[in-house]
Amino acid sequence: CAKLGEGWGYDEINLNCGCPSERVQRGAFGACLMAEPQLVADCVKAMVDAVDVPVTVKHRIGIDKTESYGFVRDFVGTVAEAGCRTFIVHARNAWLKGLSPKQNREVPPLRYELVHRLKHDFPALRFSINGGIADDDTVHTQLRLLDGVMIGREAYHNPWWLADWDTSFFGDAPRDITREEIESRMCDYMAREAAAHGTPWSNIARHMLGLRNGLPGARRWRQVWSDHKLKGLAPHAVMALAHEPAAQDA
Ligand SMILES: Cc1cc2nc3c(=O)[nH]c(=O)nc-3n(C[C@H](O)[C@H](O)[C@H](O)COP(=O)(O)O)c2cc1C
Repeated sequence: CAKLGEGWGYDEINLNCGCPSERVQRGAFGACLMAEPQLVADCVKAMVDAVDVPVTVKHRIGIDKTESYGFVRDFVGTVAEAGCRTFIVHARNAWLKGLSPKQNREVPPLRYELVHRLKHDFPALRFSINGGIADDDTVHTQLRLLDGVMIGREAYHNPWWLADWDTSFFGDAPRDITREEIESRMCDYMAREAAAHGTPWSNIARHMLGLRNGLPGARRWRQVWSDHKLKGLAPHAVMALAHEPAAQDA
């Protein structure tokens, strides 16, 4: 699998040791793998030997009611010995029984300080922190302490936030780009994918429905982009409809 991913041009291969879903547990992957650090290490070693791109691991700070820092420290130590240099840490436990995956992203408390301890104890490894991060100040604070920040839901629900990141966090010159330009480029992309693979534009549009989050008329704009009756139209025509004054006013 790692070789396939590398062959498709991916920059890294990431092993998921964080997903708590029951289906995933039945397949013996995801967060339940944190209980078997040596098995994860063996998998990582096999993948590191097979590919030239980095092999990384995403994991939780613990499973079930295990609150001890030693659990995640030993997991990271064992997996690092097998050749993993980058860890993306969702900074809450995964409760493997009794919570849905959605609840498992909200109920177990966030404990960022454990990720900071990992960085302190393994300074040569790279740690990215994940979980509940949704504003510039938190990103700044965490980037001072760690190597990276991973944003999940907020990037999806409010992707316009990403537009400032290179300027805010990496010192790039401000870019003069608008949401409409991004939407238009997404239309180009939808048209290309339709021509190349027959992909319906709705498969792509559904992932940009947060683009106008917080703006007046955002709901109607989303409704137009979600309207499957328009599937015969070209993406740019859908965009024009979504921006019609009538749609914006209603
Ligand atoms: C719909 C959905 C699907 C997800 N699928 C994966 C996945 O396949 N692999 C993974 O490592 N994390 C997955 N996650 C978890 C996120 O990567 C992230 O760890 C989690 O949402 C917490 O970060 P956040 O608070 O920034 O959203 C998923 C999250 C959501 C909302």
